[in-house]
Amino acid sequence: MFLPFLVFFLSLISSLPVSLQSETALQAPISKDLSTGQYTVQIYLKNPLQPTKLLLDLGASFSWLDCYQNYSSTAYHHIPCNASLCASLSSLACSNCYDTPGPACGNDTCSLFPENPITRKATIANAIVDTLALPTTDGSTQGPLGLIPEYVFSCSTTFLLQGLANGVTGLAALGRSDYSLPVQVSTAFSSPRYFALCLSGSSTNPGVLFLGTSGPYHLNSTTDLSKSLIYTPLILNPIGSTVITYGHKPSDEYFVGLTAIKVNGKPVQLNASLLTVDENGAGGTKISTVHPYTLLETSIYKAFTALFVSEASGLNLTAVKSGVKPFEVCYAANDVISTRVGPGVPTVDMVMQNEDVFWRVFGSNSMVRMGGEEGEVWCLGFVDGGANARTSIVIGGHQMEDNLLQFDLQSKRLGFSSSILVRGTSCSNFNFTSNKVL
Ligand SMILES: *[C@@H]1O[C@H](CO)[C@@H](O)[C@H](O)[C@H]1NC(C)=O
Ligand SMILES: *[C@@H]1O[C@H](CO)[C@@H](O)[C@H](O)[C@H]1NC(C)=O
Ligand SMILES: *[C@@H]1O[C@H](CO)[C@@H](O)[C@H](O)[C@H]1NC(C)=O
Ligand SMILES: *[C@@H]1O[C@H](CO)[C@@H](O)[C@H](O)[C@H]1NC(C)=O
Ligand SMILES: *[C@@H]1O[C@H](CO)[C@@H](O)[C@H](O)[C@H]1NC(C)=O
Ligand SMILES: *[C@@H]1O[C@H](CO)[C@@H](O)[C@H](O)[C@H]1NC(C)=O
Ligand SMILES: *[C@@H]1O[C@H](CO)[C@@H](O)[C@H](O)[C@H]1NC(C)=O
Repeated sequence: MFLPFLVFFLSLISSLPVSLQSETALQAPISKDLSTGQYTVQIYLKNPLQPTKLLLDLGASFSWLDCYQNYSSTAYHHIPCNASLCASLSSLACSNCYDTPGPACGNDTCSLFPENPITRKATIANAIVDTLALPTTDGSTQGPLGLIPEYVFSCSTTFLLQGLANGVTGLAALGRSDYSLPVQVSTAFSSPRYFALCLSGSSTNPGVLFLGTSGPYHLNSTTDLSKSLIYTPLILNPIGSTVITYGHKPSDEYFVGLTAIKVNGKPVQLNASLLTVDENGAGGTKISTVHPYTLLETSIYKAFTALFVSEASGLNLTAVKSGVKPFEVCYAANDVISTRVGPGVPTVDMVMQNEDVFWRVFGSNSMVRMGGEEGEVWCLGFVDGGANARTSIVIGGHQMEDNLLQFDLQSKRLGFSSSILVRGTSCSNFNFTSNKVL
């Protein structure tokens, strides 16, 4: 119904002077797929513009899209292998093709190795340039679409979609590379190199991604959440862990300097050397949207759950006999009081560069509601990441929901709000209602 309208809109926008597009902030809805725990972002691609659902991957270097199904666009083009753009993409390959010419088939075409972060499968495919559009925003509401005519991403084959949520046709990369979605948005509009993520746990009421803006961020309240962030440096991991390695390039994932975990203010006893990233890129703490729950290296997991169980017993909470996979520590839902920040359980603090800088995790982010053999339970939503985990702590999606996270790529720091439920709002409260976009 609305595609012809989009075409009309496209021509309207293209005729606007470029100056009107400077320092523009864009925005996109992020939905949770409940069967996989994956987060998806909805963008517009191609000409005419088509709504496209992509897996949100905070750690990926470049976006990719299945070019073999339904690729129809008047705007795409390949990148010649000798182009400087190909070199700056760190391409390791140049492709020729003897099939029907198309987005996935061309000669002398700069090629990339797109990866599926869930299955850790990779393929070789053409880099491609096409139109991208997202709604603009003033931080409170949704405005008309902003266009990036020359958005750079990679094709992929259909098999790379295996393991991804229904309806997903590729991946949106938010990593710290020059070709991630946020950096291309900031470059195209000369906007500040910032983005912010507010994940919702609901499949029907989406959260929001703000691009090219350091604020304001309004989520149905008078409070600008950019004013209440606490900052911690983003740490560079010198060695990436992609399936296809790019000559020991640094990781494009976001690492933070977590120094301690506290439960009800008491520190978990752990081996501190696990919390630093070593010269091989092992150890440390990263933030990942492709893991539904936080992973803790085995010794940290054991010490953490033991301390939590002990602190919970101080609240007269006794764990039920068996956990509900993938969780081990669960409490009968009837035994747990509810608060406006979720089930009333011991607080968990992720302490950063000093004692005063901590991300507080309340019940809504530490506990997961599950139905088990022993009825409805709240389970401690952290998972054993294994004794040989490359990264000791991977902060996962559930722990980020209803928290605003701002990635300041200029000053290389992370701003976090802790639970915005405390402020009487949630990530699903962004006002997407507007008659201006479509
Ligand atoms: C291709 O597009 C058609 C029409 O929009 C749609 O019905 C079909 O499901 C799409 N196929 C795939 C594999 O996305
Ligand atoms: C790339 O190669 C084409 C022909 O193969 C040539 O015309 C063009 O000048 C080359 N560009 C650069 C930047 O070397
Ligand atoms: C690539 O070049 C070869 C040899 O010239 C040709 O046979 C083939 O059709 C070309 N492929 C495309 C997609 O144009
Ligand atoms: C702490 O962890 C480091 C890195 O894994 C390991 O080499 C060291 O033996 C550990 N120390 C103790 C006391 O377990
Ligand atoms: C725990 O239960 C005991 C005995 O029923 C009671 O005396 C105590 O006040 C309770 N403590 C809390 C924190 O509810
Ligand atoms: C904003 O909050 C009010 C009151 O809490 C609620 O009734 C309304 O539905 C919310 N609006 C949106 C767009 O979420
Ligand atoms: C959402 O935005 C629209 C358009 O700007 C506005 O008319 C509407 O009142 C807003 N809704 C809420 C709940 O603030």
